[in-house]
Amino acid sequence: MYTVPKLKSYSAAALDKAVEKLLAALKQEAAAAKNEADWKTFRDHWMARKNGVLTQINDLWLKAAPKDAKREVGQRVNELKATVTQAVDNFRPGAATAVIRAGASVKASLGTVVATAGPDALDITLPGIPRPLGAEHPVIKTVHEIVSVFRNLGYSVQEGPVIETDYYNFEALNFPPNHPARDTQDTLFIARQEAKPQRERLLLRTHTSPVQIRTMEKMKPPVRIVIPGMVHRNDPPDASHSPMFHQIEGLAVDTNITFCDLKGTLDHAMKALFGSSVKTSFRPSFFPFTEPSAEMLVSCFICGGSGKRGSEPCRPCKQTGWIEILGCGMVDPNVYGFVNYDPKKVSGFAFGMGADRIAILKYGVDDIQLFFNGDVRFLEQFG
Ligand code: PHE
Repeated sequence: MYTVPKLKSYSAAALDKAVEKLLAALKQEAAAAKNEADWKTFRDHWMARKNGVLTQINDLWLKAAPKDAKREVGQRVNELKATVTQAVDNFRPGAATAVIRAGASVKASLGTVVATAGPDALDITLPGIPRPLGAEHPVIKTVHEIVSVFRNLGYSVQEGPVIETDYYNFEALNFPPNHPARDTQDTLFIARQEAKPQRERLLLRTHTSPVQIRTMEKMKPPVRIVIPGMVHRNDPPDASHSPMFHQIEGLAVDTNITFCDLKGTLDHAMKALFGSSVKTSFRPSFFPFTEPSAEMLVSCFICGGSGKRGSEPCRPCKQTGWIEILGCGMVDPNVYGFVNYDPKKVSGFAFGMGADRIAILKYGVDDIQLFFNGDVRFLEQFG
């Protein structure tokens, strides 16, 4: 530990040398103070009223100085007091506020404070840690794009609960209890619902179609809505399946709506989404709540419909040149019976598509799991 020497000479050079030695010792002892206890010892050694270094330089240097050297010595002693006080403040472990407290003198002494600051001090001159901006998840981004295509056609957005009753998910959509069509949607049921009547039992909705019913119950025709949302099925996860995924449903009910309206609307939507050169094709299908029902295909926007990429087979369309994109059809008259619409007066069409699958195709992602396991390295590529 530093001890204050008596000065043999009061020449400027001798004073400089003494000050230099003192500052070197100060720096060394400050850096050695690693915890609160060390720091207290350090503080007392330098600042204690009785026998602290500052008291000693006052006694041994200033008071002992000959008259003509007093001014010079006094100035240095004052400077040393300021420096020592500041060092003691700044080296307090966790002394973030100490630097700030240097307040008034910050401007003048910032350089010194920073230069002498130990690892525990806060260097307010360093650039901050940038916080990366979040970005829309690729699936949500795709959902928003699809929704906006339909909003531009005058459709409004409806949403409904993810936990649904058997009635809305199946019965009102013309899947009678025990009907084999229920098997096409492997359902996750909420436990301990057996005491309730079947139609009230809860499940995770397997599609967004129940929101068709919920909307028609509260709205009279004309109806033009899109329904984005999360759905669940008991499908084990693999590269193209996930027990949780996203759908976008559409429903238009009005007077004189025909299958031509369905085709024209969906053809327009696919061109808006995938580019004006894509073609659409319909083939017969079955859904209990639409009649007739169809599957719509779009010409493969990856290989341009050729089924080949150079000499390689095109994988996304399985070399067929067509990609299955959605299910659709004319609303089955039985469904109107559940919502008090008159099937003799109104008609309409509905469609439903998987947003995750469309996002996979759009972005050339080869595994649907990547969308859901939250790896920032994957997700930030869409930022
Ligand atoms: N809900 C159907 C499904 O998930 C898709 C669909 C919606 C079909 C609307 C026709 C009309 O498979």
